[in-house]
Amino acid sequence: MYIVSPSILAADFSNLGREIKTVEEAGARYLHIDVMDGVFVPCISFGMPVLESLRKVSDMQFDVHLMIEKPERYVREFAQLGADIITVHAEACTHIDRVLSQIHSAGKKAGIALNPGTSLSVLDCVLELADMVLIMTVNPGFGGQKYIPYCTEKIRTLRRQIQERGLLADIEVDGGINDETLPRVLEAGANVIVSGSGIFRGDPGENVKQMLAVFESYERQKK
Ligand code: DX5
Ligand code: ZN
Repeated sequence: MYIVSPSILAADFSNLGREIKTVEEAGARYLHIDVMDGVFVPCISFGMPVLESLRKVSDMQFDVHLMIEKPERYVREFAQLGADIITVHAEACTHIDRVLSQIHSAGKKAGIALNPGTSLSVLDCVLELADMVLIMTVNPGFGGQKYIPYCTEKIRTLRRQIQERGLLADIEVDGGINDETLPRVLEAGANVIVSGSGIFRGDPGENVKQMLAVFESYERQKK
């Protein structure tokens, strides 16, 4: 099953509630929420109060991407405020196994994110513990960057490993997804597609519908 997860980093923050309603009504089931601490990545984005406010106006699955050092400090709070999926960077956790358990103990789905330059080998021992792996297809920290081509092979290898190990983990991709790169990541095996500028620049509702149409024709083609 293919899922679009619009990233609110590219939304109009002065109209966030309205932007979110638009993508929800257009059929998006996930909402990608990028939390940045200015340490793990250069920017500071937003945090708990924004998540808490959005929870009151949306029933979408909140797909929270924590680009923060030592995310274990905040897992419980994000869970309480309404995150459904909490994704932490392997590079930001000294004890990734413990953090994944913490997320599961809070009753949430756990994702592991990997920067483009991080090898899939960090997943060797913990792949079974992840509901989702987020393959960053740009260096995290900013929206609107260009897709890094070598990531396609990484997605393909990970999809093979997930199949070989008999797992069901989702593969999410994040960064530089547009009309040109979307077919590449789908073909390589990604099934949760984050898009910031691709959705919120222009007409967000139309952009969501277009992406859902690509998913549909891709599924038909596979049958
Ligand atoms: C970047 C964030 C992304 C960002 C993607 O570090 O993790 O979620 O919003 O933006 P686009 O789709 O514009 O590359
Ligand atoms: Zn993200």
